[in-house]
Amino acid sequence: MAEQQYQRPLPPPHVLAGMHPKSVDVPCIVVIFGGAGDLSHRKLLPALYNLMVDGELPKQFAIVGFSMEQIDDQAYRDFARGGIEKFSRQKVTEEAWATFAPLLHFVSGSFTEAKDFLKLRDRLEALDHEIGARGNRVFYFAIPPGFIDDCSAGLTASGMVAAPDGEVGFTRVVVEKPIGHDVASAIEINSELAKHFDESQIFRIDHYLGKETVENLMVLRFANAIFEPIWSARYIDHVQITVAEQEGVGTRALYYDRAGALRDMVQSHILQVLCMIASEPPRSTQADAVRDSKLDVIRSLRPYEPSDVERLVVRGQYVEGLSAGEKALGYREEAKIRPDSKIETFVALKCYVENWRWAGVPFYLRTGKRLPKRTSEIAIYFKAVPRILYNAHPAPALTPNVLTIRIQPNEGLALNIVSKVPGQTLRLMPVDVDFHYKTVSPEAYETLLSDVIVGDQTLFMRRDTVEAAWRFVQVILDQWEHSPDEPFPYAAGSWGPTESALLIARDGRAWRNP
Ligand code: BG6
Repeated sequence: MAEQQYQRPLPPPHVLAGMHPKSVDVPCIVVIFGGAGDLSHRKLLPALYNLMVDGELPKQFAIVGFSMEQIDDQAYRDFARGGIEKFSRQKVTEEAWATFAPLLHFVSGSFTEAKDFLKLRDRLEALDHEIGARGNRVFYFAIPPGFIDDCSAGLTASGMVAAPDGEVGFTRVVVEKPIGHDVASAIEINSELAKHFDESQIFRIDHYLGKETVENLMVLRFANAIFEPIWSARYIDHVQITVAEQEGVGTRALYYDRAGALRDMVQSHILQVLCMIASEPPRSTQADAVRDSKLDVIRSLRPYEPSDVERLVVRGQYVEGLSAGEKALGYREEAKIRPDSKIETFVALKCYVENWRWAGVPFYLRTGKRLPKRTSEIAIYFKAVPRILYNAHPAPALTPNVLTIRIQPNEGLALNIVSKVPGQTLRLMPVDVDFHYKTVSPEAYETLLSDVIVGDQTLFMRRDTVEAAWRFVQVILDQWEHSPDEPFPYAAGSWGPTESALLIARDGRAWRNP
């Protein structure tokens, strides 16, 4: 069957010279603040390499790493190659490397020194002159949040921020999570950014939105006639979202032991996924139309009262156990974690999207580290068929239909239906109608970087949405902070504390074991 071509609507003409995707040809220079750091090494440089291999980088293009390390262009290229060889989706070939390496440059400097910003500016101007990037710049802040302020001010003071609708080329800034630690700090970071950049220039990354299956949710819902009519409280019993990780805290102890799973995963990735499932059809596929309908979902979430938190939100922390058949340390025994830390490594919660479509449908969300496997999925449980005909006998009742959308791994979806077992006797059994992507999808960062280059903000978080998401989780954070209780322990390699199973069992339901 012929594949149907669809182009996302084009961003305003002043930001776009070509068509997106594939024929991306918007000349520009991507400057990575923190260019010699971990995110750059593992994700950004490999993503840019893959875009190049797939022919999706503009012809006039350069990458400039900017940070304190005293290294030259050659050393930066070696650093990049190391990361790409280890983490890239596609292999490094000498031919591809010979094209990619010359794109890489490095400027060493401090995020707080005006003279270093001038040095960066001069280097960008010289490069621009060489390659013809037309003054177009993407500044990627792969830096701790504490530096966002300094870097934004440094860019403004050195004259590197163009007016949003100016003619000298575009300025775009990419900001990584965490955007704040709570409502107040998120507002502070956003206000700081707003002093220097227009909202149309700010791209707040949530890498879950760049995952193929998450982006496909909108297509699934709104490019097919069969789902939307049944996508509501009338047919849906409840929704489960699971984002499970097998890894422990790893090397990110300093950040994680201040953040915890609620801030790290729920406030950002999981609420964004929830929005994609629960939103109303946007009025168009333009970035702000899509983002408006997502914001409506977050604003419709029933706010928790402090007294709800204990009943509706479970926090856990892993203790020693077996992970992938090997003995795994407990969270408090991990390197650089406070031995009396109360930070949660697991959260399960029940919430409601209180609007006409979803009235009375519980959404159960859970996420955690050191769970049995790495798997993220959304499971939509439909209501049971009436207790007549095939479902007339109470035991066993027919299994209700479940639509499972696998975000990772094994990206795809399955619809569980009841079918007849072939043969003379009438026996019924649940079967899966399964679809999975046969190709290796691009990494989320590839999609997102490509979108920044063409100026498409659809998959990026707008200020109002980030702050609304913080407001929703703030009640929980406050309650936990003031409570003498500790997170419930769970053994590494298990599905979380018993209380998580009870949270859903109290409603006569159970978590799906993915
Ligand atoms: C990050 C979190 O945003 O997402 C990490 O900070 C988490 O703690 C990671 O491990 C999970 O991403 P993915 O793509 O591996 O599911």
